[in-house]
Amino acid sequence: MDSPPLAAEVAAYYARGGESRRLFEGHGRIELLRTQELILRHLPRGRAVVLDVGGGTGVYACWLAAQGHEVHLVDALPRHVAEALEASARQPEHPLASATVGDARRLEAAAARADVVLLLGPLYHLIARGERVAALVEARRVLRPGGLVFAVGIARFASLFSGVVERLLDDPNAQAIVERDLVDGQHRNPTDRDYFTTSYFHLPHELEAEVRAAGFATLELVGVEGPGWLLPDLDARWRDPAERERLLWAARALEREPTLLGLSAHVLVVGRKPTD
Ligand SMILES: C[S@@+](CC[C@H](N)C(=O)[O-])C[C@H]1O[C@@H](n2cnc3c(N)ncnc32)[C@H](O)[C@@H]1O
Repeated sequence: MDSPPLAAEVAAYYARGGESRRLFEGHGRIELLRTQELILRHLPRGRAVVLDVGGGTGVYACWLAAQGHEVHLVDALPRHVAEALEASARQPEHPLASATVGDARRLEAAAARADVVLLLGPLYHLIARGERVAALVEARRVLRPGGLVFAVGIARFASLFSGVVERLLDDPNAQAIVERDLVDGQHRNPTDRDYFTTSYFHLPHELEAEVRAAGFATLELVGVEGPGWLLPDLDARWRDPAERERLLWAARALEREPTLLGLSAHVLVVGRKPTD
């Protein structure tokens, strides 16, 4: 727990920028719409107190604030917090309640303060199980009894699929990275190519087990993107509203199919803090 929240190479990766655009291009667009619909499926009625932990540049936080919720964003990277505050200032009618630098493993928020905690990112970069469970236990501490955590992991096979689709595996370095991902989920990128950065890639049921180990009852384990994220012609197909709807439908149709959870780039677990 004395380790910094972000390894140097992870901070350097995000310092290159691009996080504020990521969800508005490529398969990030499926990730965004599907994550939003999964959040809305469970969000309590009325004005909720939401902590977006690892909230990055504020895409989800600002979206929820615009719907009238009290949203507090926490992120380990000062650059992302600054970008989130800029995004918040662009919606003065519905600003974020706060955006601060912090560590998912040790939040400033008081106990039982929140109705919802989003963990859409920190679990990627907490590479030891104990640290991921610590972040989830911290989410449980700040949630009121009955409150919900939305915990997302990168799926174990994501780099294999993008390696095949984007023809990256003819680079022996990429192949070696993917081989290790498949063995133990520990993603490391010793190259200067854009093969992401130090992360843990979850098996779907492993993420659910971590959420349970932190004391939550789990309500859902779903694949987020479904098959659409793998399409080489996604940009063209996404421009057609009917085709876009079919891709989202396909994601919904498969979202709970146990044999296909790992087809998506991300898996999401919804957990509820027990009331007793
Ligand atoms: C891939 S980005 C996701 C941002 C946003 N939640 C989204 O879904 O678009 C991962 C974010 O998690 C943050 N992060 C990683 N580890 C963290 C930790 N231990 N505490 C707080 N934030 C963390 C990073 O700084 C980064 O902004």
